[in-house]
Amino acid sequence: MQSLLIRGGKPLYGTIPISGSKNAVLPMLAAAVLFRESCRIRNCPDLTDVHAGVAILRWLGAEVRWQGRDLLVNPEPIARWQIPGELMGLMRGSVFFTGPLLARLGNCVLSVPGGCPIGARPVDFHASGFEALGAVREGDRFFGPLTGGEICLPYPSVGATENLLMAALGASGITRIHNAAREPEIVCLCDFLRAGGCRVTGDGTDTIHIRGGLPGTGALAPIPDRMEAATFACALASAGGEIILDGADHTHLTALLEVLERSGCGIIKEKTRIILSAHGLVSPGDITTGPYPGFPTDAQAPVMAAMIRARGETIIRETVFEGRMGHVEPLRAMGARIALSGGTARITGTWELLGRKVTASDLRCGGALAVAALGARGLTEIHGVAHILRGYEDFAGKLRALGADACLA
Ligand code: UD1
Repeated sequence: MQSLLIRGGKPLYGTIPISGSKNAVLPMLAAAVLFRESCRIRNCPDLTDVHAGVAILRWLGAEVRWQGRDLLVNPEPIARWQIPGELMGLMRGSVFFTGPLLARLGNCVLSVPGGCPIGARPVDFHASGFEALGAVREGDRFFGPLTGGEICLPYPSVGATENLLMAALGASGITRIHNAAREPEIVCLCDFLRAGGCRVTGDGTDTIHIRGGLPGTGALAPIPDRMEAATFACALASAGGEIILDGADHTHLTALLEVLERSGCGIIKEKTRIILSAHGLVSPGDITTGPYPGFPTDAQAPVMAAMIRARGETIIRETVFEGRMGHVEPLRAMGARIALSGGTARITGTWELLGRKVTASDLRCGGALAVAALGARGLTEIHGVAHILRGYEDFAGKLRALGADACLA
């Protein structure tokens, strides 16, 4: 079993490239099912979740080929619409394939996907959205034909918005999704579909209009990974120093950068990069997670890890996932002073963190433990590396490029 070893206490200096976004590329892989001809996803990050998506596409019958960092998908031979449990369980992103399969083949099975253990994560919004499009349900199976309609999401779920807008492309007429999520990854998915000729408008707002009709052929690169950028920004805040996040889009990171600015970090926002500096932190006050453009739940764990050493008291409220505090226990083991009550964490700044043997229980917990380790004295041994490899491309290599003492062993 691999572990990530980090010897902390060294400030970070240097430049790293920000990879293509995991959460943008996974729905794009699923969208490939919809194309009438081949499509190309440019600059795909090398992540185990991306390989899981490729495995699902191949199992369904698609021809998938890497060309450098581009992924070429020919979905024409796709004939299967049932994804076996072991592939479905590889990640949460497996659920994105169900809408496109329903749109293209008129059938899908909506079984519970895998993903990080951060709460119940049901798929009821996906199911009722399929039914609002006229799909008939028999147990977990849904089948068409689909007719455009009105879908009102009870909560702006990212996954349900993406899955249902792709399903709606297989429906006759126009569909409107109300209370849609507004995350940049949704706009990216719609840009990909528009590159294939689809008529989708309103993405990035809370009402999305979709005219039925499958895409032809198209190519696009995912947006830069705002959660990778957020994690490295928190790493800098924790360790101190000055780094450049090359390719990062600061307009996707407004809520996080505001928090880091409040805690004393220097931030220069340029068109295609962010320059950050930090030399000791003060508490930024209260942070509450919420749907975009609110503070991202995916950045909650890394920011908590950075604020352990911020002078004063920081309060972090998690409102999106009820079980997303798995990082608190290992952070405490490193010396963090965190009082936890339900989804609210009260962090009292402490000067010294100590390297320990800790285990990542989910992807962003892994990022958070690395953030803490960089600011800690001595060696931290992080287990559960498989979680980190799901969503951070060449994590240890990028840390080393910033001068950190980090390796996989
Ligand atoms: C996506 C992201 C994840 C991020 C999350 C919120 C991917 C692959 N994952 O996850 O990194 O943390 O958005 O920004 O893009 N819910 C229901 N029923 C449903 C669907 C969702 O109750 O059918 C609830 C969830 O339990 C959660 C909330 O809605 O409490 C938000 O979840 P959602 O936005 O759907 O997250 P994911 O798409 O799973």
